[in-house]
Amino acid sequence: MTQARQHHIQVVAHRGASEDAPEHTLAAYMKAIDDGADALECDVRLTADGHLVCVHDRRVNRTSNGRGAVSALELADLAALDFGTWKGHEDATEGPDWGDPSLTSVLTLERLLELVADSGRRIELAIETKHPTRWAGRVEERLLGLLDRFGLAAPPTAAESSVRIMSFSARSLHRVAAAAPTVPTVYLTQFVGPRMRDGRLPAGARIAGPSIRIVRNQPGWIERLHRAGHQVHVWTVNEPEDVELCARLGVEAIITNRPRQVLSQLGRG
Ligand code: G3P
Ligand code: CA
Repeated sequence: MTQARQHHIQVVAHRGASEDAPEHTLAAYMKAIDDGADALECDVRLTADGHLVCVHDRRVNRTSNGRGAVSALELADLAALDFGTWKGHEDATEGPDWGDPSLTSVLTLERLLELVADSGRRIELAIETKHPTRWAGRVEERLLGLLDRFGLAAPPTAAESSVRIMSFSARSLHRVAAAAPTVPTVYLTQFVGPRMRDGRLPAGARIAGPSIRIVRNQPGWIERLHRAGHQVHVWTVNEPEDVELCARLGVEAIITNRPRQVLSQLGRG
């Protein structure tokens, strides 16, 4: 136990428990909830017929038995695909059974919100908008509309929100801030731009989302972010020595493919 571990670090399951189950499937999110994750991370994209689905890549080729861009396919096309078989059980540290096709079909954000609502405990959601410029604001509009249906689009304060919106795109975060000012935003980055060196973030983001590589190479920036009043949520933290480093630096959230192992290392599993 390090001294820094005395503060609470939120453990966020990246694409679900994506080391143990196929990413962005119900199987992966159910496993993350079972593992005790505090929050779930997901990427969202719009289908050709306007549904938000949880898919990381622009195309479905890597994570399904289909081909093509999500934006060119309708939800019914995606629903016919298998998003589970690509991941061999040998990848899993503990092999969950994802033989049930209903657990590995395309996951809509709506279904993920239902899963969280039905979980019986507080589970936060960190939702990342992918390539939102293509749709000129439709991703954010659909996203906030859906959050509104679940009563999540207008928390009294940012601190009380159980949802946050993340993006590498400052434009996307600006859109969210304009439409839903109390939903916290996370500016994701793989480098520290010149105007960010003193701990300032673009787009009025409340939270910084640096890659673990930044944390390893520029730990002083994490201190400056904290001094500037920002939370720091780091991705993707899978190795024990990186968990240790994040704990020592006092980051607020660790985004990991291995929620069970990280919780255990932090003395919570
Ligand atoms: O949680 C942020 C992280 O997911 C950003 O990178 O490529 O995994 O979406 P990526
Ligand atoms: Ca992501």
